[in-house]
Amino acid sequence: SVIYVLNGPNLNLLGAREPEIYGRDTLADIEQRCVTAAAGEAQIVFRQTNHEGVLVDWIQEARESAQALIINPAAYSHTSVALHDALKTLTIPVIELHLSNPAAREAFRHHSYVSSAATGVIAGFGAAGYELAVQAALTKVRERA
Ligand code: DQA
Repeated sequence: SVIYVLNGPNLNLLGAREPEIYGRDTLADIEQRCVTAAAGEAQIVFRQTNHEGVLVDWIQEARESAQALIINPAAYSHTSVALHDALKTLTIPVIELHLSNPAAREAFRHHSYVSSAATGVIAGFGAAGYELAVQAALTKVRERA
């Protein structure tokens, strides 16, 4: 099976960006962790973009190409009806993922348009959250097989 792992704006700067909040792992390190966590059971398609519409295009692509989708929508979590609507078109499991715990941060991070379109949410476990999300996706895919 195929698991999409989509990453939104500014996550290309991981490792250098506010490391006290987001950790020292780069996005390349995190991609490697995902591939290892999927360990032959699933193929990981791992991508990052700073552009909202590109995320919409990739979510639409996943309709045909993926058995599960993990997304760290970054700041678009808190702003994007377009991402909500795109995710609502999917019938595969969707996992919303955040490195930090947005609920424990500024008020403007407390609402996510993505959560109500997700199967579940993982937040606050740093880079390890990506491995947890891959495990969760594999579990959901197995349940549906
Ligand atoms: C984030 C949390 C968001 O609030 C923030 O805008 C990000 C990263 C996280 O992974 O903790 O860019 O999604």
